[in-house]
Amino acid sequence: MKTKILEPTKENIEYAGKVAREGGLVAFPTETVYGLGADALNAKAVKSVYEAKGRPSDNPMIVHIADQEGLASLTDEITEEMKLLMDAFWPGPLTMVVRKKDIIPYTTTGGLDTAGIRMPSEEIARDFIRAAGVPIAAPSANISGRPSPTKVEHVVEDMDGRIDVILKGPDCQVGIESTVLDVTGELPMILRPGIITADDISRATGKDTLIDPAILMKPSDGEDFKPRAPGMKYRHYAPKAKMHIVAGDMDLVRKKVAELKSLAEQEGKKVFVILFEAGEEAAHDLFARLRDADSQGVDLILAGAMSSEDGIGFAVMNRMLKSAGYSVIYV
Ligand code: TXA
Ligand code: MG
Repeated sequence: MKTKILEPTKENIEYAGKVAREGGLVAFPTETVYGLGADALNAKAVKSVYEAKGRPSDNPMIVHIADQEGLASLTDEITEEMKLLMDAFWPGPLTMVVRKKDIIPYTTTGGLDTAGIRMPSEEIARDFIRAAGVPIAAPSANISGRPSPTKVEHVVEDMDGRIDVILKGPDCQVGIESTVLDVTGELPMILRPGIITADDISRATGKDTLIDPAILMKPSDGEDFKPRAPGMKYRHYAPKAKMHIVAGDMDLVRKKVAELKSLAEQEGKKVFVILFEAGEEAAHDLFARLRDADSQGVDLILAGAMSSEDGIGFAVMNRMLKSAGYSVIYV
């Protein structure tokens, strides 16, 4: 398949919308990561997204809408809590898991009676959804298992030749995927952490915010590891190189990283170090750094742990742990 890689002009966005409306696949920028979009109401189109990504089909997709009004066509139940959350965070990197209407096919929700809905803040994304005239189902636009794409080059790397259109856009501002929040229960529950944190959500709703306990576990915890967001159970974000996280007091971490680096280099290995200062910078850069490491063909990645005390650090650590296959060296 020949993929058209297009500047986000008005004309090209109209064209990309038409392609999606007619069942084609379009990658587009959002503020979190690039998405791989298809008509969310067209089961056949959605199925081809799974194929292009090489993704298991029990993994539900997020349905993207251009404005708050779009929500009413996808769910019958819009609670006061959801209105507060929309006012506080939409457009933006919050996905709400709601009870779905019948028009959303089970192919889109991986067989679930709920659907994740999100209104992105990136204008190109919303213009594209509007041009399509249908809600857009979109997972991250990477081959399944690779780090999520935060620059258009990443999308080209993974998707050129597999999809119809890639809409170019800026580097993604946030850099990690949206916070996924289940709002079908008594209290809202975070199923995937993101830069909108539990504290942010509690401030908006005036209620406690729960966190899916599986987020704090790892697959080797066995039967207890049952994430409510099916996507959280897969090995994600994996770079090709071996990766270890070094955790502890920052000065000790730096020392340990330098020591491990020089040992590995003595064995002739190529080493890539990732040390972030602040949570937002880490969120913004992590996936791009992992892809840099891959393209440089390094053997070993050493990453300093983020403090999980602040919510953004927690969200970044969640991705780092998966990338490193939960390998942590404590100092
Ligand atoms: O920021 C984002 O959310 C990006 C951009 C493109 O919008 N999209 C994204 O999609 O990260 P994806 O498919 O890579 O991740 C979707 C996550 C998965 O962990 C999935 O299991 C969860 O959301 N999810 C979607 N619908 C769900 C539902 N009905 N119930 C529980 N989890 C759901
Ligand atoms: Mg993904």
